[in-house]
Amino acid sequence: MRKRILLASDLHHCHLTWYGLSSEERMERLIRDLNAEYRRDPYEVILFLGDYSLDFWEWDTKGCYLNEGCSYTREFVEKVCPRLPSPYLMIPGNHEQYGEETWRRITGCSRKGVWTTDGWLFILLDNFSANLDPQQHSDGTFTPIDVDYVREQMDAYPDRRVVLCSHHFDFEKETPEGCRLVQDPRIVCLASGHVHLSDIVTLPDALGGKKILRTGHYSYAAAPNPLEFMHGFREMILTEDALFSRYITPENRIFLDGKAVDHPYGTQDEVRIPLSTAGC
Ligand SMILES: [Fe+2]
Repeated sequence: MRKRILLASDLHHCHLTWYGLSSEERMERLIRDLNAEYRRDPYEVILFLGDYSLDFWEWDTKGCYLNEGCSYTREFVEKVCPRLPSPYLMIPGNHEQYGEETWRRITGCSRKGVWTTDGWLFILLDNFSANLDPQQHSDGTFTPIDVDYVREQMDAYPDRRVVLCSHHFDFEKETPEGCRLVQDPRIVCLASGHVHLSDIVTLPDALGGKKILRTGHYSYAAAPNPLEFMHGFREMILTEDALFSRYITPENRIFLDGKAVDHPYGTQDEVRIPLSTAGC
């Protein structure tokens, strides 16, 4: 059975303009592109991996939530989400430092959760779970994988293959337990955002050689040439024998140095991970 899931991250609805596009324009394009992609090849769910905003922010004008109580995350949920073509789940990024209660009130989601579909378990982690509801402007505090939570979910769904999702993974700051966990044969791969890149990272053999599928952005690219990692989202195709994934960049027009630049619909950063029978 074939299943298709979309992942998107780092949408950054906020007061800033990138590539000559206001945030309102970018969000309109995001809605348009997610709907067009659904018509092209329907997907089951969108997993949003954080950074909907700059609600909490250490730099420049600082975060608008502490400054003036303005939540672009709330605006995203109220204005963008109702126009999505599928169900969705959203976990926070480092710019959404809302405590669990406020996060639930704003988004209707928990800061962590799971999505299950035939034979698969997506575990969505909160890897910026410290110093929430801060009184000072900051860019969030990274926290290692909540190993107990992952084990609990894996035990609750013992026959499923697992994809670990988070806004960010940092194995230089990971605990020994977290490093052991990712080597579990049931964990097929990891997916994350945060770095505004859409490449595939292979972890060292000592960490089981698992791949981290990075999920791009819909704001600005972390590359000198923005066309290298354009606005987009990542698909995952789940089949009996493999997980296939690639980053999709919808056709769009951006403005660089005041000049219009058109880029066509494209795909990049593909990976096919064969599924072994080990562990499942
Ligand atoms: Fe970001």
